[in-house]
Amino acid sequence: MSTVRTRTTKREAFGSRNVFILSAIGSAVGLGNIWRFPYVAYEGGGGAFLIPYLCALLTAGIPLLFFDYAIGHRFRGSAPLAFRRMHRAAEPLGWWQVLICVIIAVYYAVIVAWAAMYTWFSAQLTWGAGNEEDFFFSEFLQMGDVASGGLSMEFVPQVGVPLLIVWVVTIVIMGLGVKRGIGAVNMVLLPLLTLMFIVLVVQALFLPGAMDGLNAFFTPNWAALADPGVWAAAYGHIFFSLSVAFGIMVTYSSYLKRKTDLTGSGLVVGFANSGFEILAGIGVFAALGFMAQAQAVDVIDVASDGIGLAFVAFPTIVSQAAGGPIIGVLFFGALTFAGLTSMISILEVIVAAIQDKLGWGRVRATLIVTIPLGVISMAFFSTTTALAVLDTADAFVNAFGIMAVALVAVIVVAWMLHKLPVLQEHLNRRSSFRVGLIWKLLVGVLAPVVLGYLLISELITKINTPYGEYPGWFLSIFGWGMVIGLVILAVALSLIPWSGRSHAKDDPEYDDFLTEEKYEPDAETGTIRTTKGAGA
Ligand code: ALA
Repeated sequence: MSTVRTRTTKREAFGSRNVFILSAIGSAVGLGNIWRFPYVAYEGGGGAFLIPYLCALLTAGIPLLFFDYAIGHRFRGSAPLAFRRMHRAAEPLGWWQVLICVIIAVYYAVIVAWAAMYTWFSAQLTWGAGNEEDFFFSEFLQMGDVASGGLSMEFVPQVGVPLLIVWVVTIVIMGLGVKRGIGAVNMVLLPLLTLMFIVLVVQALFLPGAMDGLNAFFTPNWAALADPGVWAAAYGHIFFSLSVAFGIMVTYSSYLKRKTDLTGSGLVVGFANSGFEILAGIGVFAALGFMAQAQAVDVIDVASDGIGLAFVAFPTIVSQAAGGPIIGVLFFGALTFAGLTSMISILEVIVAAIQDKLGWGRVRATLIVTIPLGVISMAFFSTTTALAVLDTADAFVNAFGIMAVALVAVIVVAWMLHKLPVLQEHLNRRSSFRVGLIWKLLVGVLAPVVLGYLLISELITKINTPYGEYPGWFLSIFGWGMVIGLVILAVALSLIPWSGRSHAKDDPEYDDFLTEEKYEPDAETGTIRTTKGAGA
């Protein structure tokens, strides 16, 4: 018995529930909140979008957040380990989430690097007057034209160097571990980020024309509610924004102490994330209102999507507004910090999975996982083809990665393994907010229906209209090839034998947990003790 017990180190843990909550909010609040939400909301009917958005939050976002927490906390593992402990055959689901995080991490890092550079550029208005768009695409990114010129992989140093710094900073944080690295960084950055954001929004509200921007943002276009695409956008957005179905919340909740109020924490995280998002919408549209007034055009003419909004519209506002450099430093600084706290959570999914599977220590797993990812990220995203690869990978991995794995996971867990009652019981053990039949219906019935619909409509759209007008070969590699490859690789990874903590026999802490909580031994993986106190 003691021979197997020496193989694993103690599982890392967050210092307290508050640190977990801050870290979970840090993960949720990211690029999605600051540059994606305002535009998605505006396109989806402005004020009226809040209806599908709140429906998506309450019927899918928060119920699936509870679902992720319950899996991670009940089965106490990284995504592959938690799914494996639920059922041996479910392990590929965990690896699928890990691989999705691999793709997201390599491009997420580059946006954080751009934001960091733009914090610096804002202070001195590096882009000059009136040519912000040229500056971003031609001078800064030195973007190549994939559609006509094929791949050109020339190194762009002004992107490559900050990207390298982002990776080094991230690797150091990850190497310090859950408590001293991830937890500590979130304890500092999240309050700082919130403060910066509040100052930014207040400053934006005092700009001339701010009210026009807010009118454009909040004036409801009720007709938009009849468009299924608007509902699809709301549901699609909430997954990315809340970091559900990435394996992040499964991993983070596995670091929580046993006696924790899971649903109470989930509600705080869900509403804090949305609060941030709506605040971002107000700040961004107040600033766009100013820009529209300065250019004597309508707000609709200056509102653009993610990349254009952050890296073209905002620099224009920074150039034109009184106190512009301060607005710029606050906006891009907030984007950098929000991105960094999300990026470490994305990488933690991968590091934790490797630690569990191979029984490696924190530093070894961190270095072996993150250095190759950093190299890939630098190879693809500090070149002239960066934007096209990023755009395609992001669009495909969101639709056919996150939403697809969420759909398969709820079907497998609810309908094939019948584990919703187990998860419900676990959530209700110590939670202030109890979940019941409604939660099971939302996760087991509504979520698969909505996700299935979204996935099919995305599939039809992307087949009928080649994404972004990129050439077929390009989409086959960085779009379709990538998403299909993830599934194949996930299955392959699940076939590699475990040399780490695969089940209770190899993990005394998990064994103790099952015993002390009086849980049944896991059906497929078993425990060495089936009665309380035996065999310690
Ligand atoms: N939830 C993170 C974001 O919004 C991934 O960017």
